[in-house]
Amino acid sequence: MEKNNRLIVFDTTLRDGEQTPGVNLNLQEKIEIAKQLEALGVDVIEAGFPASSNGDFEAVQGVAQSVSCSVAALCRCVISDIERGWEAVKNSKKPRIHVFIATSEIHMKYKLKMKQDDVFKQAVDCVRFAKSLCDDVEFSCEDASRSEPEFLYKILTAVIDAGASTVNIPDTVGYKITNEFGEFIAGIKRNVPNIEKAVISVHCHNDLGLAVANTIVALQNGARQIETTINGIGERAGNCSMEEVIMAITTRKDILHIPHNIDTTAIYRTAKRVSKLTGVPIPICKPIVGDNAFAHESGVHQHGVLANPLTYEIMTPESVGKTESTLVLGKLSGRHAFAAHIKTLNYELDKNGLESAFLRFKDLADKKKKITDDDIEALISNRTQDVRETYRLESFQLQTGNKIKSLAGITLSYKDNEYTETAVGDGPVNAAYNAITKIIGGEWPLSAYEIKAVTEGRDALGEVTVRIKKYDRIFVGKGVSHDVIAASILAYINAVNRAEESQR
Ligand code: KIV
Ligand code: ZN
Repeated sequence: MEKNNRLIVFDTTLRDGEQTPGVNLNLQEKIEIAKQLEALGVDVIEAGFPASSNGDFEAVQGVAQSVSCSVAALCRCVISDIERGWEAVKNSKKPRIHVFIATSEIHMKYKLKMKQDDVFKQAVDCVRFAKSLCDDVEFSCEDASRSEPEFLYKILTAVIDAGASTVNIPDTVGYKITNEFGEFIAGIKRNVPNIEKAVISVHCHNDLGLAVANTIVALQNGARQIETTINGIGERAGNCSMEEVIMAITTRKDILHIPHNIDTTAIYRTAKRVSKLTGVPIPICKPIVGDNAFAHESGVHQHGVLANPLTYEIMTPESVGKTESTLVLGKLSGRHAFAAHIKTLNYELDKNGLESAFLRFKDLADKKKKITDDDIEALISNRTQDVRETYRLESFQLQTGNKIKSLAGITLSYKDNEYTETAVGDGPVNAAYNAITKIIGGEWPLSAYEIKAVTEGRDALGEVTVRIKKYDRIFVGKGVSHDVIAASILAYINAVNRAEESQR
């Protein structure tokens, strides 16, 4: 890449990332992530697919009005999609319309049931229409990496003439091997005569674990925009992980020479925020942001790192914002100190949100001596008000032991009435979940349950994430409490409330 040709980071956590099974972000959650992405320094946020549902339309509109960077709306090459997409982003400071159509034989024949000529015409007509509404138009040829190169050259030339200022080349099914993908991008650069009028973008999926490598090789062969997600979340094996590609570029600037706008010290916080809000855990060995990414176990390594960190560390934890979670607030801290502190963590809460987080903080401060940033983030992300509380936990009681079946009594409120049920189960959590489903009725199968401590120590907060299957979808629920049974109950009710909210 030529010097001064700055990288454009197009983040699709809120669109492709949200297509991760089980991830359903509501409006507030999308806005919260968008603000964090802006603080991280991304250039374009793809906020959703407005024509797909009213909820997505509102979320894209909400994000478009909340941040100053570019906001893109994804649209099929269909006029009504483009009109809806434009409606959602038109009040953004920098709106972008992103249109796509599949160009591979297999997609055209079996999915679109269209001939090449028809796909060509539809792409060009739609780019021209999008350009009549919005100055910034991106065109993607879905499944580009399995498309006939000659057809790709032809369609790219025509859409650039019709007004596309960015042409995106997705490896939709994560099929290309790295040197092959590099050649593929070089071929586009050589064979599309007007390519200098557009930015080449790449969008790599990770089915073979090559998304980051393929993205980097594309940059070495003429691409200037990368489409990525935080923590690499997305369809199937996910998308190219932003933190990995950015840290590769930053760490190896000696050979890559790619200036970018990302504040790498905001990476770790962003990764954690996305993981909390989506309910998708970060694997411990994940490069850059996994718990073990900077941990040294063997004595030889520890000795080397103590003598000189560069022996085994090619980048520092501080460079990605991973620092010790320190004691920040205590029992005597007041509302002002609390409010000021959460601002430094880049959270914006309204008056009610702030008050309820403060009350939870006071409650925790009574039980836990040291309160750290991790605790505060867990408290804040445990916001039941982000989802309408169709059911609310009033109280629970448990009888449990290693020689008896567990017995749970649960009282929930629903539409101003209280309902109580008891149930037995294999263990206290199972008994509590059985009592809850007795109250709400129907089948609410649990497909995953995960518990972890927010910080170290016996008095740590417990954070529970559950997934339940309902209405042919998966809903993620989260609960945080000092008491792991309470956290488990809150997480289950949170998932139920999310499922109920989706039916409105
Ligand atoms: O993977 C893909 O091809 C996509 C396009 C819609 C850009 O997500
Ligand atoms: Zn994709």
